Parts: sequence; structure tokens; C-alpha cells
Amino acid sequence: MDLFDYKPEKPFSQKHLVWLKDYTQDEILQIISLGLKLKKEFKEGKPNRTLEGKTLAMVFSKSSTRTRVSFEVGMYQLGGMALFLSASDIQLGRGETIADTARVLSRMVDGIMIRTFKQSDVDELAEYAAVPVINGLTDLVHPCQALADIMTLYEQKGGLQGLKLAYMGDGNNVANSLLTICSKLGVNISMACPKGYEPDDGMIDRAKAFAARSGSSVILTHEPEAAVQGADAVYTDVWASMGEESETEVRKRFFIPYQVNGALFSLAKPDAIFLHCLPCHRDEEVTADVVDGPASAVIDEAENRLHVQKAVLCLLMGGGR
Ligand code: CP
Ligand code: NVA
Repeated sequence: MDLFDYKPEKPFSQKHLVWLKDYTQDEILQIISLGLKLKKEFKEGKPNRTLEGKTLAMVFSKSSTRTRVSFEVGMYQLGGMALFLSASDIQLGRGETIADTARVLSRMVDGIMIRTFKQSDVDELAEYAAVPVINGLTDLVHPCQALADIMTLYEQKGGLQGLKLAYMGDGNNVANSLLTICSKLGVNISMACPKGYEPDDGMIDRAKAFAARSGSSVILTHEPEAAVQGADAVYTDVWASMGEESETEVRKRFFIPYQVNGALFSLAKPDAIFLHCLPCHRDEEVTADVVDGPASAVIDEAENRLHVQKAVLCLLMGGGR
């Protein structure tokens, strides 16, 4: 399938990007296709003012480099502007309700992006906001990252259907979103997690149901070698996510067999790529020879956050483009 020439089955009609589970395959492909086109146009120096005069409020309760910069620069490049709102500096951090924050921001801005802990807070924000709400990461999911990951996989491999992505390590927010997007798009996903650190059963069951429809497979194992065998892409993430720092030392003991090092990576296909959402910890979840090696696509993947975020912004806030 040529995603540059993707013909939507239906007009894009989502109001928010809260969870990818609520998106159809067609809607996800529309975002990735537009991301690819916007990237090409941007590289060719063609201006795009789809969001002229529009504003995005960005609420952050956790640190960020890629998410903050991609949304802020993306808004600027599309003719609009973004406001960085640290949750601890706005009244939300002093107890103003999410509902009131949503109602008030909706009268002043055209969209809200939020990075926080609880998924239910994003759900509530979307419930009360009159403008689009975009999930910039919760403890549960990281949909914007998964979109950039799949865009990168497509660019690197020239297709998606039938590819195998192997995910090593923590069954966290990144893992959950990869399960959803891969299973919806026909990418086989094999996940190797330590016992007790797997994604929730509900996530796996839902992904298996999506995979049955797209003709792909979802495999969960405790054996990293089995998961990596024959993979087109090997993916890992930090062993302790934001908010779990106190567990770092305990987790290291369980996670070390899941480290993506040269030996484990060599079990994937000879032309396999390495992916990581970043930031990474060298010599923890990945060794330097892999993340800094020739098969690593992590910087392209990070760059694609910008292009795919612009696609999300155009589709949700710009009426397409
Ligand atoms: N991958 C990602 O979301 O990076 P940041 O935490 O830097 O935004
Ligand atoms: N799982 C990581 C992803 C960071 C982009 C975290 O939540 O900290």
C-alpha cells in the first residue's frame, strides 16, 4: 500500500485523540499518510498555514523534550502558536477541577494537548472540552508516539502489512499503544516482558481482537529470543517510566535479560531496524552498539514526531488541511 497516495474510506470525523483504540484503521492511516505528505512538503520548503491564527494549550504534568518541541514547533510551522502550561504553575495544580479547566481553556484556545499521569484525567478533559483534546502521554498510553513509530516503520520498510515488530521490556504506555496500532494495521507484534510487568490482560485481549480483523498476530512471551526471532523491527523503552523512578533498582534485576544488545538484536532479520521512543538509558534497556549503530532509526523516529503531530493537529483542528 502506497501511503502517499492513500484514499480515505470515510472523512476523518474524530474530535479528540485520547486513545487509538477508538480510531479505525482508516483514520490511523489518514494521519500517517498526511504526516508523510507534510514531511515531504516541509523538506521541499513549501509553506503550510492550515492553522493560521489558531492556538494550542499544552498542559504538562511530566517532563518532555520531543512532545513539547514537536507540538510547539508544529503549531508555529502551520501558522498558529502553542502555549506551554506547566500543570504546577496553572490553577489545575492548586485544585481547580479538570472540568473547569476544560471549559475555560475551550473559550480561549482551539485545542488542548495534555501529558499527565492518569488516563481518566485526559478522558475527563475531553468530556468537558469543546475543543479537540490530544493525549501527549499518560501512564496508560502514548498514542502520538505510536503514530510516529509506525510512520518510521513504513518509511524504512516501504509497507506495514505482515511486518513483525518485537517489543522488549516493560508492558507500559508505549507498549500498550504499540499493541493497539500494530494490531489495527496488520503488523505482527511479539512482546517479551518480565513476569509481573506485562501489559494488562485487557490490552492484550483487545489487541488480539483487532489483529483478528487485520490479519496479524499478537504474541506475549517471557522469552526475549523467541520474540525477536525474524523481526523487522526491535523496539524497547525505559525500564522505569516517569513516576516509577523509585522502582529503578528493583526493576533492573528483572529486566536485564530483556536488554536489547548486539547478541539479542542479531536474532532479528539481517535488515531489521531498532526503534525506541527516547529518551533511552544506554546499557540498561539498550546497549550503545545497537542504539548508536547502523540499524538504529531512533533519530528519524524522533523527527517524525514533528511531522505526524502536524498531521494530527491539521486533522483535529484544521478541518483536514
Ligand atoms: N518520546 C517522547 O515522548 O519523548 P519526550 O518525553 O521527550 O516528549
Ligand atoms: N514509558 C516512558 C515513555 C517516555 C516517552 C515514560 O512514560 O516515561
